[in-house]
Amino acid sequence: MLAKPIRTLLWYLKRPRYYSQLVNEILTKLHTACFSSGRGREHAGNWCREHAISTNEAIYCITGTRPAESIQQQFAGIFTEAHKRASQCPVQMGGPGELDLLYYLAEYTAAVNILETGVAYGWSSLALLLSLQKRPGCHLYSIDMPYPGLQNEEYVGCVVPSEMKKNWILIRFPDWQAIPRVLNDIDGPIDLCHYDSDKSWRGRMCSYKRIWKALRPGGIFISDDIDDNTAFRDFSVSVNADPIVVEKGNNFAGILIKKETH
Ligand SMILES: C[S@@+](CC[C@H](N)C(=O)[O-])C[C@H]1O[C@@H](n2cnc3c(N)ncnc32)[C@H](O)[C@@H]1O
Repeated sequence: MLAKPIRTLLWYLKRPRYYSQLVNEILTKLHTACFSSGRGREHAGNWCREHAISTNEAIYCITGTRPAESIQQQFAGIFTEAHKRASQCPVQMGGPGELDLLYYLAEYTAAVNILETGVAYGWSSLALLLSLQKRPGCHLYSIDMPYPGLQNEEYVGCVVPSEMKKNWILIRFPDWQAIPRVLNDIDGPIDLCHYDSDKSWRGRMCSYKRIWKALRPGGIFISDDIDDNTAFRDFSVSVNADPIVVEKGNNFAGILIKKETH
């Protein structure tokens, strides 16, 4: 069995379309080595714990209503099939975002254009598409590059049923290349964004800034795993937005709502 760095390097060497991402990852690792002091997991985790509320409280705080049931209850048949497809997947990918939060905030914003980064099995894509399918002319733009070293390309988004894919555009490039392209192609601003891909401080700060600019006033930005480092906290300070921190099991998601004045 080859060591992980060698497997990762071989994976990249076989895929020329991701060569520039290899360079980007090396730059990110150097950046983390030089500037991670005070921005790490411990600081971020303490800040999240101080501010955290539950998913239902966050939904209530933003929408003024409490969901009567989870989306897994509301769409039980679709989720049973989705779990079956996930269990048949031969590779293990990243875990789901906060699905109720995504669905109910997509409903609340009556989202037409949604951007998400990080698909893996596609649980977050499924939650967002369940809301979007009710509105004509809507689109989910999902960005995902496969895990370096894992042979998971063909399984990305596997839990999404094929009949729900007509409003779904999946872009298989790294964030830093895909986000500017998608934002350029989208007709109109973004109503909602779920960020769940590159978790480095450098990667987040670069993408958060781009996405925030494209979000409409009243639009909602959600980022997963914000306890990995202080990027979400630092970004919320830089744009002067009030952060909402949601506890999800062992980690945290963050929400920012863009005001007219931002
Ligand atoms: C935690 S998983 C996403 C889970 C998904 N949001 C869900 O709820 O089911 C993270 C995904 O982001 C992808 N990813 C990681 N770094 C990325 C990058 N720089 N650009 C695009 N995708 C990336 C990973 O390959 C993986 O598929």
